[in-house]
Amino acid sequence: MMEDISSHIMDIVMNSVTAGAKHISIAVEKDPGTSVMSLTISDDGSGMDAEMARKVQDPFFSTKTGRKVGLGVPLLKGTAETTGGSFTLTSAKGVGTKIMATFDSRHPDLPPLGNIRDTFFVLIASHPEIDFNLRYSVDGKDFLLDIAEWRKELDGVPLNHPEVIGFLSNYLDEHL
Ligand SMILES: Nc1ncnc2c1ncn2[C@@H]1O[C@H](COP(=O)(O)OP(=O)(O)OP(=O)(O)O)[C@@H](O)[C@H]1O
Ligand SMILES: [Mg+2]
Repeated sequence: MMEDISSHIMDIVMNSVTAGAKHISIAVEKDPGTSVMSLTISDDGSGMDAEMARKVQDPFFSTKTGRKVGLGVPLLKGTAETTGGSFTLTSAKGVGTKIMATFDSRHPDLPPLGNIRDTFFVLIASHPEIDFNLRYSVDGKDFLLDIAEWRKELDGVPLNHPEVIGFLSNYLDEHL
């Protein structure tokens, strides 16, 4: 199992980046009524056909076929399923991919969230060309950040301009 949920987010989002996504949505939400936590990541990257989408969820895929396929997807699936949650991956070639994992936030084996603020910051700062839509809605906090909106306001100034990065850093410290 990964040490925290943030590491899962980083891994799954890097798959989206590798798949050439221009828009990536990440939502971490906890239902205050049921204590179900959910992580939803969707992208408009290259997507996968049905067979590939099935195979990447199988941790033994690589040994069976001899093809090198990683563990990011099966690890998240494993964390979700061993902590009383669920996992779904839907993908369409040329359209994109959506991954949704739920967890029981009271389960003793659920890894901590880790540093969501740093995860969001690193993702945005190191991929200034991607429109991230971020939501963090947990334990009374309700944080929303739509980079496409920021991009409009910036009117041509790149997102990784030092002043913008400084502003983003302060913004995350204040709101997340
Ligand atoms: N969002 C996505 N869009 C398109 N293909 C994806 C996406 N996510 C996963 N894949 C495909 O599934 C494969 C397996 O992903 P997974 O994260 O499990 O391993 P990996 O990225 O290959 O290696 P690592 O263990 O370093 O994460 C990827 O190599 C890629 O082919
Ligand atoms: Mg991966």
